[in-house]
Amino acid sequence: MTAPVLVITGAASGIGEAAVRLYAERGHRVVAVDVAEEGLARLAGLDGVATLVGDVAAEETNTAAVRLALDQFGRLDAAVLNAGIGGTGPLESPGAIDRLFAVNVRAVALGIRAAVPALRAGGGGASVATASVSGLRDDPGTWDYNATKAAVINLVRANAIAPGLTETAITTTQVANPDLTARIPVHRWATPREQAEVIWFLTSPAASYVTGVTVPVDGGLSANGGILLPPSAAQDRDRGPSRMSRQGCTPRSRGILSPASIANGSRFSADG
Ligand SMILES: NC(=O)c1ccc[n+]([C@@H]2O[C@H](COP(=O)([O-])OP(=O)(O)OC[C@H]3O[C@@H](n4cnc5c(N)ncnc54)[C@H](O)[C@@H]3O)[C@@H](O)[C@H]2O)c1
Repeated sequence: MTAPVLVITGAASGIGEAAVRLYAERGHRVVAVDVAEEGLARLAGLDGVATLVGDVAAEETNTAAVRLALDQFGRLDAAVLNAGIGGTGPLESPGAIDRLFAVNVRAVALGIRAAVPALRAGGGGASVATASVSGLRDDPGTWDYNATKAAVINLVRANAIAPGLTETAITTTQVANPDLTARIPVHRWATPREQAEVIWFLTSPAASYVTGVTVPVDGGLSANGGILLPPSAAQDRDRGPSRMSRQGCTPRSRGILSPASIANGSRFSADG
């Protein structure tokens, strides 16, 4: 079988970079798109990866990415519209609001629009956008970012992921904040790779009957009602074995999912 070909935007960092590396490791071919030339250069040596420097808010970047996929790899099977920027919530800065919508919303529409003819020509294909848990529910102070992500969820009639708190360049100033971590039922932030794995599933034949959904990848953040915080990791430990665990099951609240435990093939860490 010919290796599938994808366009991935926002590829130079974080979730996009993790996705490019994951697809390349698994033998797929990728056109990696980003405005950040330096970050893209790190990917240029990977097998089956072509890079394109450009602003996804511009139509020509999206059409050039599809053209590069067709010229270099001969087909297009999926578009991952992941590039995004954070907002600051300034009602008094219309320019910043326009830019936020141009990158986070318009670019997703342009990316899908550019990809559709090539996806159709290949017999189908998939598109996955990176929305956010912030598009599922609002948070005070970041209304403009949240509005863009809500727009992506409504815009995308294909599939999207809604990442929760994920350690990337966009969150470097927040990751040390214990109040944020306390809101995550699994008591830790996601790695970019954990987001990339769900993108992988949504572009794979295993998801051939999945359409029009937004999958939260958020450690339970959006499942929490928002009135009470989830129990802390310490409370979870102090509570001792529950009826479920005495019966040999591991309830979700007892375990802390760590990247290491996932890599080791166990879904719950021993210290959970
Ligand atoms: N990190 C999180 O906690 C989190 C949570 C929810 C959603 N998201 C979303 O995930 C996506 C990826 O973000 P990340 O967390 O990996 O952040 P990141 O900053 O590490 O990566 C974003 C990438 O997008 C690129 N980019 C920004 N504007 C662009 C433009 N106009 N044209 C081309 N490329 C552009 C950046 O250069 C960067 O490489 C974004 O859409 C973000 O909103 C992130």
